[in-house]
Amino acid sequence: MANDPTAKTLADLDVADADAVLRLFDDVREQFAREAAAMPDMRRWEELRGVWLGRKSGVLTRITNNWLKPASPELKRVVGQALNDLKGHIESVLAGQQAQLEAAADQAALAREREDFSLPGVIRPLGSRHPLRQTFEEIERIFLSLGYTVVAGPEMETPYYNFEALNIPEHHPARDSMDTFYLATPPGAGARLLRTHTSPMQVRMMEKQQPPVRIIVPGKVYRRDNPDATHGFMFHQIEGLAVDIDITFCDFAGTVEYFVREFFGPKVKTRLRPSYFPFTEPSVEVDATCVFCGGSGCSVCKQSGWIELFGAGMVDPAVYGFVNYDAKRLSGFAFGLGVERLTQLKYNVNDLQLYFQNDVRFLRQFA
Ligand code: PHE
Repeated sequence: MANDPTAKTLADLDVADADAVLRLFDDVREQFAREAAAMPDMRRWEELRGVWLGRKSGVLTRITNNWLKPASPELKRVVGQALNDLKGHIESVLAGQQAQLEAAADQAALAREREDFSLPGVIRPLGSRHPLRQTFEEIERIFLSLGYTVVAGPEMETPYYNFEALNIPEHHPARDSMDTFYLATPPGAGARLLRTHTSPMQVRMMEKQQPPVRIIVPGKVYRRDNPDATHGFMFHQIEGLAVDIDITFCDFAGTVEYFVREFFGPKVKTRLRPSYFPFTEPSVEVDATCVFCGGSGCSVCKQSGWIELFGAGMVDPAVYGFVNYDAKRLSGFAFGLGVERLTQLKYNVNDLQLYFQNDVRFLRQFA
């Protein structure tokens, strides 16, 4: 307050009657109104309160000291009353402002802290089932619908289950065609190897269970091959085995044909081509009309119209001998589906390595 009148006494200001007192108080009130006019911020509000209500040298304290205390007895009551009014007025204005300032601060904090649901979220791309997994599930679905059971077996095998009991004695040339990973074993322990096919589970299941047997065995198999577009040191097979008292070659052929049509579609035709496996007799390769050209001939089927799908055959009676099954009474068939190969033919994938590189650009095509 420039030229602050509250620094002087009423006598100095030459105030002699009640009207003059009230005029003085009106001036002070106007002064306050000017200073408090614009809604202050918190810091300015604190200042304002200090200037007006401060205990030691606030305006009201000075009025008390300079006007009220030395006032003549006649004016004391008027000054006291006016001072109380002024004080009440200032306090209520400042309290109102404080409430507004606090509400505004709360609002600002809320606005800062509120979740903004309109912001785009973090988009996590949804994964998809691996194409090999999809083939597994499709094949399992087909055979489950035919009454087969899905079982799993060990990837670490003995030569007995992987070879001998499947009618592949030592020095049999079939052992060479499945170049085998042998595992390091302690001296005196029997040899262990990574199974080269899922066929050992034929033996394990027949050892465990009397006919009828209807199983499929999905799993990993291992061969010492250098990885390229058509080879890997690990790939997947699904073994199938059905043994009962009256299973015929017709059942075998019918099952194979049903499976191929379920998997590739009703237009595909099958044929059984003579082949050789030590544990099946007769043995066949199951061929299908080329899934790419429909049988008219293309580069994939090398113009033959046919493509090789998988090996299969009627279980060789010699295998029954290893599991104490009565070969005279029982018969059955087995097949070994290559999961990578079937997937490759179904989805036209021309490089086996793609399955194992986890490249999302490849994988997302199978979503
Ligand atoms: N185990 C054979 C292989 O891996 C496939 C097969 C299984 C053939 C069952 C006939 C019967 O090549």
